[in-house]
Amino acid sequence: MATLRLGDTAPDFTQDSTEGPIQFHKWLGDSWGVLFSHPKDFTPVCTTELGYTAKLKDEFAKRNVKVLAVSVDAVREHKAWVGDIEETQGFKVNFPILADPDRKVADLYDMIHPNANDTLTVRSVFIIDPKKKIRLIITYPAGTGRNFDEILRVIDSLQLTDSHSVATPVNWKQGEDVIIVPSIQDPDVLKQKFPKGYKTLKPYLRTTPQPNR
Ligand code: BEZ
Repeated sequence: MATLRLGDTAPDFTQDSTEGPIQFHKWLGDSWGVLFSHPKDFTPVCTTELGYTAKLKDEFAKRNVKVLAVSVDAVREHKAWVGDIEETQGFKVNFPILADPDRKVADLYDMIHPNANDTLTVRSVFIIDPKKKIRLIITYPAGTGRNFDEILRVIDSLQLTDSHSVATPVNWKQGEDVIIVPSIQDPDVLKQKFPKGYKTLKPYLRTTPQPNR
């Protein structure tokens, strides 16, 4: 198994899910994707994460993102678990949960870290763009629930920085000022790309209002 890195093509797979078999690349289509692993069904932290992700349905849809959870348990267990998630978290799971009992996906994406636990997956997150390239990898330990608002924030940054010559500063959120990439130096280009103007704090540190707002 090769190490997956940013910019690599996300490995394709076919695996069963709570919504039937999923051929990953075909299922993604032209969407962005979030693939995230869960150590085990019927575990408390995962239950809260899946409920919160269901709550964010409209936020993911607005950004053209499909979410796909994966756990090494079987579809039968997943289907029983989603009832508990709705009951305790107040949101019905509205995305597929992959069944990965043969650990095909867990192995392809290196989600089992044997020195942490040799059977359960860690909490991996992969953000994948419409060209099927991996754009973010984060790994959390099993005992720490993820911050899905942060995942949305990164998607906002990726979608913005893909289409404008900017980068986003520390703790940036939608609507806040952004940074002009240092490679843009031509004054005419700067004027054309950033008609709202910009501030120069250092020649390499220039801020401008978010261009697509
Ligand atoms: C949980 O989801 O609650 C969990 C799973 C594995 C280890 C620790 C916590």
